[in-house]
Amino acid sequence: MLHVAVGGASGRMGRAFLAHLEEHDDIQALAAATDLAEVSGKEPSVCFDQICGGQDPDVVVDFSSPEATLAYAAWAAARKVPMVIGTTGFTLTQLDQLADILHPVPALLSPNMSLMMNLAWRMMANAVTVLPNDTIDVEIVEKHHRDKRNAPSSTALKMAQIVAEKRGWSLAQALRHNARWGMIGSRPQKEIAISSVRGGTLISEHSIIFAGPGESLEITHRSQSLEPFARGTLRAARWIVKQSPGVYDMLDMLGLQEVLY
Ligand SMILES: NC(=O)c1ccc[n+]([C@@H]2O[C@H](COP(=O)([O-])OP(=O)(O)OC[C@H]3O[C@@H](n4cnc5c(N)ncnc54)[C@H](OP(=O)(O)O)[C@@H]3O)[C@@H](O)[C@H]2O)c1
Repeated sequence: MLHVAVGGASGRMGRAFLAHLEEHDDIQALAAATDLAEVSGKEPSVCFDQICGGQDPDVVVDFSSPEATLAYAAWAAARKVPMVIGTTGFTLTQLDQLADILHPVPALLSPNMSLMMNLAWRMMANAVTVLPNDTIDVEIVEKHHRDKRNAPSSTALKMAQIVAEKRGWSLAQALRHNARWGMIGSRPQKEIAISSVRGGTLISEHSIIFAGPGESLEITHRSQSLEPFARGTLRAARWIVKQSPGVYDMLDMLGLQEVLY
């Protein structure tokens, strides 16, 4: 039996993950969902020590906020407990801090836990490799619910990063994330643009558009519920406990990191 402690247990994703655990006999949360929800939002030493009652979990799963994740990571690393992190919105400095903190344990960090979204990243990488970069413009559109805190989504940023890496561009120089307005003239060729839509209860949608002369190609991933993320997270939790210390992502787990076609 695998025992899990959940950071952000009272949030949308925390609740979806805990609900998903109910369907599986080989893995369980260290405390009831309602108890976890009660301590959620408190600092991890209070939150986890209280719910774990002195017992270390086999794995920590986290869907909270960047600040809380850093604290949960320190808690997990001090106890040599592997960690799965789905939280998004980290600054580059926070990502460096996280890598330092998690050094002694295996940790899987991914802005998107969905199997299909990870496959879509791979497909996008293949498309960028094949399509010429001097005639094909890349636009990214992401849509989320009205309460999402960060923009653009970290999934969209990863899409942009894949394009920049494959094209040998600097992401910082090529990235555009603001509305187009007024007499803007022709689109610069060396640009990766992200548009963020926020509204209602939309779960999550990411599209990449490759627009060239006379034709275009669009790859879109849509989530209709949080279940695909919960399912991927459970798979990641089972996988990460068997790995050596290091920071991994879902592409490593799926064996998609190196595969081109
Ligand atoms: N990787 C993926 O596949 C994936 C999928 C969906 C969402 N996400 C990401 O997961 C994160 C959570 O999303 P959500 O929609 O579940 O958000 P949410 O509904 O706002 O829930 C956030 C949770 O984090 C807790 N929290 C926030 N700040 C905290 C702090 N400083 N200390 C301790 N706990 C804190 C909240 O507790 P209180 O409410 O008690 O403060 C709540 O339980 C976001 O970064 C989101 O982008 C990732």
